[in-house]
Amino acid sequence: MSEHDEIDVERPNAARMYDYYLGGSTNFEVDRAAAEAGRGAMPDAETYARANRAFLGRAVRYLCSVGIDQFLDLGSGSPTKGNVHEIARQANPEARVAYVDIESVAVAHSRRILADVDGVTVTRADIRRPDTVLNAPGVAGLLDFSRPVAVLAVAIMPFVPDDAEAAAVMAAYRQACTSGSYVAVSHISQLAATAEQVAAAEEVMARTPTPVSWRTADRIVPLLEGCSLVPPGLVPVPLWRPDGPVEPEQVVRANAFGAVGVLP
Ligand SMILES: C[S@@+](CC[C@H](N)C(=O)[O-])C[C@H]1O[C@@H](n2cnc3c(N)ncnc32)[C@H](O)[C@@H]1O
Repeated sequence: MSEHDEIDVERPNAARMYDYYLGGSTNFEVDRAAAEAGRGAMPDAETYARANRAFLGRAVRYLCSVGIDQFLDLGSGSPTKGNVHEIARQANPEARVAYVDIESVAVAHSRRILADVDGVTVTRADIRRPDTVLNAPGVAGLLDFSRPVAVLAVAIMPFVPDDAEAAAVMAAYRQACTSGSYVAVSHISQLAATAEQVAAAEEVMARTPTPVSWRTADRIVPLLEGCSLVPPGLVPVPLWRPDGPVEPEQVVRANAFGAVGVLP
């Protein structure tokens, strides 16, 4: 049994802290305290979470517009506003979504909400084990990898701090996908934050079972290796196909890059 198997209300947790920043209710006192400590370390922590979630929504809408109807959502978190299946099904009611997360509370909450929803599954697994994820009944039994799939790696690869491991994990998911599949990546990165804020924010996350590592843009690029990036490429997340004008201050306060690539 790993430290992820039990619900630990004594130790803060990334999924539940993120849920708190997004205004969700799947979090405990220990998570709220850590999230506030995170905000103390980096005042833009909530801006990051919200900008990232908004990027996820725009990426899913784009992917639906190019005909994608199957999604593998790695590190899906707690269901909150703007869940992938809800957004995708506005465009295509038949869209299938396989959610994967390691966190017990997020998975239990997802299962409760999705119990009666056909074509959507929730798998509790470690995304660093692509074979386990890809062979899980909720993934292999739902998604048809002989047709294009979108792999969503949104705000998840910071939880794989080692560059070589992160690149290998992403490569394994790409290799499972056929030509015409897509990969969406977003990643926390130092834009407005100072070096001290980055260190302090990493220290707060080190108290959780899933520490994180920020990456510069050049360390994010290998996560998309072999993909042809759709315009505008790898950019601060608020600038990825925004729905309207974006304030320059919001661009840097998001402290994250995002991109969507297609497999040739
Ligand atoms: C910052 S949240 C992102 C949620 C969602 N992707 C989004 O962008 O709105 C990161 C999620 O990754 C999950 N996570 C962290 N490490 C993981 C791992 N090794 N395997 C699966 N999930 C993981 C956390 O539990 C958390 O729910």
